Order: sequence, then structure tokens, then C-alpha cells
Amino acid sequence: MCIIFLIFYTYLLKIYKNLEQLTLSSRALAELKGYSNTIPNMHILINAVTINEAKDSSAIENIVTTHDDIYKVLTESGYKEENAKEVVDYRNAIWLGYEQIKKDGYINTNTIIKIQGTIEHNNAGIRKLPGTELKNSITGETIYTPPQNEQEIRDYLKNLEDFINNNDDGIDLLIKVCLIHYQFESIHPFYDGNGRTGRILNILYLVLNNLINSPILYLSKYINKTKQEYYKLFNEVRNNNNFEDWILYILKGIEITSKETIELIEKIQSEMKDYKEEFKNKLPKIYSKELLESLFYEVYTKISYIEKACNVTRITATSYLNQLEAIGLLESEKIGREKLYKNVRLIKLLSEN
Ligand SMILES: Nc1ncnc2c1ncn2[C@@H]1O[C@H](COP(=O)(O)OP(=O)(O)OP(=O)(O)O)[C@@H](O)[C@H]1O
Ligand SMILES: [Mg+2]
Repeated sequence: MCIIFLIFYTYLLKIYKNLEQLTLSSRALAELKGYSNTIPNMHILINAVTINEAKDSSAIENIVTTHDDIYKVLTESGYKEENAKEVVDYRNAIWLGYEQIKKDGYINTNTIIKIQGTIEHNNAGIRKLPGTELKNSITGETIYTPPQNEQEIRDYLKNLEDFINNNDDGIDLLIKVCLIHYQFESIHPFYDGNGRTGRILNILYLVLNNLINSPILYLSKYINKTKQEYYKLFNEVRNNNNFEDWILYILKGIEITSKETIELIEKIQSEMKDYKEEFKNKLPKIYSKELLESLFYEVYTKISYIEKACNVTRITATSYLNQLEAIGLLESEKIGREKLYKNVRLIKLLSEN
């Protein structure tokens, strides 16, 4: 009797723990949504957050680069660094997906194919040739063989698409994120880029369902930090039907990341505030909101951007940037024939977070 009670009690405790995690994750995400809705210059923060995401997500694929290189590529100065370019492609893929679902109001296979095509910079599309297997990177042993036949892959994707867009199944949206991610990675529809595409799909699903308004919640940093667990739990679902631990793992990621994203946004805002004060005090004659925001928009700026943003001549724009450099708010660097100005403080902040 006592043992039965103990088993029952343990079972109840487990259900309670799981429900509690769902509440904690939903609450943290709602806080992030509420907080981000109150921010006036959200586009600046989205740019910053998506760059960090693009960097973290690409790092899972061993595409490692620096913020400095990424920003140089972003200024379209002709600067070439392959890994940084891939990171920029990843961020472009986020935007492409975001705009597509905002327009369509659903997520379909075509959008997923476009996202992967942007990440990979090719139009190979869905796998047509057999041979793709997921292997243990150390032992080389095959862990999982995804569907091999193109039609079969397309059928699974259609099924996933229906699941994604069905809002009447009564399943909690956050639990659905966990299931969608697992299923998408298991279909593994592409030759490469499935992980990165799947991680973008997560945020698009949250945006599609208004759990967040802007594309600012990304699990890549969390996944990268807990990579072993991430891979292990995939196999736990596959081999032992252990959905519970997988779901708890992803939910925990949503909770932690929502909190970290709020902190990051707070830090960027605080940096902007200090920067603005210093700018206004030291260079009151040239201060303007447009100029300040241009320095935070893509972190790296150049004379032609300032000409446009502030509607001034090239000579004036150059003078603004040189004055800002003289007081230490910017640092310039020559790339080819062009001079780029970097917001070193913001770069430092982003690379530390
Ligand atoms: N056992 C598994 N079952 C299902 N999916 C898995 C399994 N192991 C890994 N995956 C998924 O496959 C992804 C890797 O696939 P692929 O190399 O096509 O993607 P990628 O974007 O190039 O790589 P990465 O995710 O490492 O950045 C992993 O991120 C993970 O999501
Ligand atoms: Mg890969």
C-alpha cells in the first residue's frame, strides 16, 4: 500500500513539475513580449539580437567568425570573409521567413525551402538522392536514417505543415514548438542546413502565433551550450519514446532564453542611453536622433549611410563621423578604399553576450 502511494505520489510530482515548467516558460516569454512591445527603437534591437543569433546558430555548424567580420560584410564594403558571409545569409533567411509568414499568415513547405536556400546559398531544395544519414561525429556510427525518398519526405513535410497550421488540436503552443522541432529535424528534408532551418522555424512559429511580435527569441545559444543533451534527447525520443524530457529541455530553453533576451535588450538600451548622453554633452551642435540611431542600426556605419540618414552632404557626414571618432564614440577602419566607422562599445557588448 505504502509503495503504491509512493509511486502515485512520485507520478503526481512529475506531472506537477512538468506543468510548472510550462507555466514558467510561458510566463517568461510573455514578459519578453510585453517588454519588447514597449521599446521605441525596436528595429535596432532586432538587428542586434538577430546578429547574435545568426552567429550562435552558425557556430553550432562550426561556422565561427567574429562580430567585427560580420559587420564589415554587412556594410557591403566588398569585404570578404566566408564564415561571416554565411552568418549574414542566416540573418537574411530569418528576415525572409519573417516577412513571408507575415504576408501569408501560415508556414508552408515552400517557405521552409526558401529559408534553407537562403542559408545555404543554393537551390538544391529537398533531398532527391538517397544516402543521408545522421552519424555520431566521433565514432562515425549511424544514429538515425531519415526518410530517403523525395516523395516520402514531401508527404511528411505536408503532414508537418498541417500540424503547424492547425490551431484546433488543443495542444499548448509551446509544446507544439517542441514537437515541430523534433519532427522537422527527423524528416531532415535537406542535404544540409536542417539544424539552422529548424531553429529559424521555431521563432517563426512563435511569431505566427503571436507569442512574440518580433523575431527576437532564439534557442541557438542554449542549444550550443547544451549540445550533448540536445543530441542525446533526440535519440531518447526516437529510441524510448521519451518525449517528456525532450519537451522539458526545450521549454527550459525558452524560459532561460526569454530572460537572457530581456537582459540583453536592457543592456543595449542602457548603453544607448549613456552613449546618447555623452554624444549630446560633448557634441551638442551635431547631435540628432537620426545620427545616433544610425550609429546603432548596424553597428558599423559609413559616410554614405549618414548622408542618407541625416540628409546632409558628404562633407558634413564625414565631419560628423570624424568628430565622433575624436571623442572616442567611434573607431574608423579602412576597408579597400572605403572608411568604416564602428560603434566599438556596442560591438563589445554584443560579443560579450
Ligand atoms: N538523432 C537525431 N535525430 C533527429 N535530428 C537530429 C539528430 N541528431 C541531430 N539532428 C538534427 O540535425 C541537425 C544537423 O543537421 P544539418 O547538418 O543538416 O544542419 P546544419 O544546420 O547544417 O547543422 P547544425 O544544426 O549543426 O548547425 C542538428 O542541429 C539537429 O537538429
Ligand atoms: Mg550541416
